[in-house]
Formats: sequence, C-alpha cells, structure tokens
Amino acid sequence: MTLVIAIDGPAAAGKGTLSRRIAEEYGFHHLDTGLTYRATAKALLDAGLPLDDEGVAEKVAREVELAGLDRSVLSAHSIGEAASKIAVMPAVRRALVEAQRAFSRKEPGTVLDGRDIGTVVCPDAAVKLYVTASPGVRAKRRYDEIVAGGGTADYAAIFEDVKKRDERDMGRADSPLEPAEDAHLLDTSEMSIEAAFQAAKTLIDAALKENI
Ligand code: CDP
Repeated sequence: MTLVIAIDGPAAAGKGTLSRRIAEEYGFHHLDTGLTYRATAKALLDAGLPLDDEGVAEKVAREVELAGLDRSVLSAHSIGEAASKIAVMPAVRRALVEAQRAFSRKEPGTVLDGRDIGTVVCPDAAVKLYVTASPGVRAKRRYDEIVAGGGTADYAAIFEDVKKRDERDMGRADSPLEPAEDAHLLDTSEMSIEAAFQAAKTLIDAALKENI
C-alpha cells in the first residue's frame, strides 16, 4: 500500500523545504501542489488569456504536466498572485486535484504539500502535518529568500502580501486552507528547518509504526 504524507500550511511557512527533506529521508515521491496552480496561472498569463474565465482556466489546468513542473520558472511573485486567484475556481481545483490524487498513489510512498492535501486531496493520508508560522516570520523568510537570490525586496510590502494571500486562501468557499481534524500542528515560528524536520520525523516514524 502506498504511504501518503500530507503537508499543508500558509504561504512561506516552510512546507516546501520540509517536504523535500521528508521525501528524501523516506525515499518517497514529492509533489509541491502549489506548482500545479502556478503552472496553470503561468500558461494563462503567457497566452494572454483572462484569469477570471473558469472554463478557459479549467481547460488549461487539464493540460498541466506534473512531470515538467519547476519552481525556478514558476517562482515569480505575479505568478503566485495569479495562482491564488484561479485557485478559488472549483472547476480548476477539480482538474488539478484529480492529477494530484493520481500522483499520490505512486509506490512506495508520496509526500504532497499544499493547502488542502489533508482535507480534500488525500483525506486518508497516513500522516498529516499542518505547518505554520506567524505572518511576521513568514514575511521575513520570504524577504531573506529574495535578498539571498540577489533581488531587492520591501519587507512591509511582503508582509501585506502574506496577509492578503492568507485571507484569500483561508476565506475561499472551495477547499479553504485549514488544518484537517487529525493533522499535527507544527508551528515553526521559532524553529530552524532542521528542528522542524526532526519534529516531523518523530511524528512520521510513530505513524509508520502504527501502519505496519
Ligand atoms: O509558495 P507559496 O506559499 O507562495 O504558494 P504555493 O504553494 O506555490 O501556492 C500558490 C497558490 O496556489 C496559493 O496561494 C493557493 O492559493 C494555491 N494553492 C491551492 O489553492 N491549493 C494547493 N493545494 C496549493 C496551492
């Protein structure tokens, strides 16, 4: 049986790095589901198509290839913004969730990270983590990331942006961002990536023992 680890949480909470480390540790396949929304948004932007036509966006979402997703070409701020706009559309979500579920069944196991993995995409996941951090800490992490990459950033604007994205992700009617009832909460505000990884590993090892 495939073992699924579901990791959810708000923007810049550290899910991505944590998910990649977990997948590496257990030899599982990893899917950053945010990239499926970003790839859909980028395809629409590149083709000059509107971001508010659900039928058009669904068609584009159905053509997204999971194998070709690359965060480096999808990382632009404008793509993230557009992604969170089309992510409110139920037809887009249905199309992408179908592809994400198919991915989650890969042997021997998978790690999926996103906003609705434990609640909607893989409600039967063996382990569910909800990774969070205060908005100030998340904005600082995003700021440091941009500066480390050689860019210039405005902390106040990033902070406003993190809050706006939270509101959009938590406030939408279809699959809002929220912890699954059986998710383990991991607040990384005062934790290094290494400490978060160790905490996650302890939870996952305990769940794996139960699943044997
Ligand atoms: O990396 P960042 O936190 O900026 O976001 P992301 O994970 O790349 O996701 C971009 C946007 O896609 C999010 O703001 C969500 O609106 C949407 N998303 C979603 O609705 N459901 C998911 N499972 C993953 C992402």
